[in-house]
Amino acid sequence: MKKEENKILIVDDDPRICWMLNEALKDESYKILTARDGRSALRTVVEENPQVMVLDIKLPDISGLEVLEKVREAELKVEVIILSAHGETKNVVQAIKLGAADFVNKPFDIEEVKMHIRNTLERGELKKEVQYLRSELKAKNWFESFIGDSPKVTEIKKVVEEVADSSLTVLIRGESGTGKEIVARILHHISSRKDGPFIKVNCVAIPKELLEAELFGYERGAFTGAYKRKPGRFELANQGTIFLDEIGDMPIELQAKLLQVLEQREFVRVGGVENISVDVRIICATNQDLEKNLAKGSMREDLYYRLNEITISLPPLRERREDIPLLVEHFLKTYNEQFNRQFPSLSPSTMRALEDYNWPGNVRELENLIKQTVVRGDEGIIISELRKRSLPSPTPSAPRITEDDLSLKRASQKAVEETERNLISKVLDQTNWNRRKASQILRISYRSLLYKIKEYRIDS
Ligand SMILES: Nc1ncnc2c1ncn2[C@@H]1O[C@H](COP(=O)(O)OP(=O)(O)OP(=O)(O)O)[C@@H](O)[C@H]1O
Ligand SMILES: [Mg+2]
Repeated sequence: MKKEENKILIVDDDPRICWMLNEALKDESYKILTARDGRSALRTVVEENPQVMVLDIKLPDISGLEVLEKVREAELKVEVIILSAHGETKNVVQAIKLGAADFVNKPFDIEEVKMHIRNTLERGELKKEVQYLRSELKAKNWFESFIGDSPKVTEIKKVVEEVADSSLTVLIRGESGTGKEIVARILHHISSRKDGPFIKVNCVAIPKELLEAELFGYERGAFTGAYKRKPGRFELANQGTIFLDEIGDMPIELQAKLLQVLEQREFVRVGGVENISVDVRIICATNQDLEKNLAKGSMREDLYYRLNEITISLPPLRERREDIPLLVEHFLKTYNEQFNRQFPSLSPSTMRALEDYNWPGNVRELENLIKQTVVRGDEGIIISELRKRSLPSPTPSAPRITEDDLSLKRASQKAVEETERNLISKVLDQTNWNRRKASQILRISYRSLLYKIKEYRIDS
């Protein structure tokens, strides 16, 4: 591995730390980039594609954990080493969940940081190879990876097979966790474009200001920081498929440009004049009510009709309960292999409980539950989890009114807070702390969810 190709991004608001690491790592002939707050760190990751980011947790704008979360949501390929002060155990647990590659305690020894960076770079290379091999293997049986033989799933498989090879735009709709992304990947992998790239863009995860540059690329000098031309994801997807996930969140200002690509397969880079032509298949997905967006004016009508060339609607799991045993068997096998366990099949009564449950988080929720069961080696958690999740949100008992708290208004406010807190914790558990998903289920904005988590001090 040639070291000089490796870019390392140091993110710390303390200029002395940035300077010290910069000096020490220069000898290693890495290219060092620095950022002093979370937002500029994200921008640098998008623009420069560093291999490793050394990230402080405390930053002046958004926290290091939020940076890590955004990096994961946008599926940016950077390994993250967290710098944390002693006593920040809770943050470390959260960072592990978010897939941080390594941790360094502050105050640190320079040699130690160097070693962590070297190890992380090596592991990153290895991971790439394994992922590649795995996807090769998967490509052979893509079609079988979509589990289910209910009439609804059989019908979907038929449509998928019929439309895979056409160049028509496909819109995949369905609640969260119903398998929209798998269907998009299958469409690509069984089409004649399968040897070309499959590029996924999560429209909601990329900051609005960056989305246009990310999709269409930019020319040198297009904006501050655009030092050189960068191709966008449409160009990267040439000869392959682009998957625009969460299309319902595409900002209205970008919709006309997207429509032009859909119609003419042509666009102009940000800051450019030349028309770029691409040969891409476009697949979109959403769990939103696009008709409502249309009525609200947050989606253009012409784009809506254009996206609707072929629609595949995935049913929620509760409408195809007969697929549950097959899915359970599939996930047991997958996770027994992955974690090297021999967890046997489930008892009939547990299976019945699974078939009776309502599955607001659909297949993803089922998959997570089976994964936990295999890892913990205990079938009992299924029944207790399902019972917990099925409970109606607790109606608050009349709050005890104290001397200094006699106001009726305050009492009902307290009750509301308690109900909200319980419901939010429940949904966060159900979605494995995927806050974006949770906000959708709770029908509040992502921002207000983050605010409430903080306000109610909800921990994972
Ligand atoms: N029919 C299926 N067979 C096997 N696994 C499935 C099936 N449907 C979904 N899954 C699994 O469930 C999880 C969620 O699926 P996926 O990410 O495709 O859902 P989604 O509809 O894109 O959800 P979201 O709207 O939340 O992004 C994935 O791990 C996927 O592998
Ligand atoms: Mg998805």
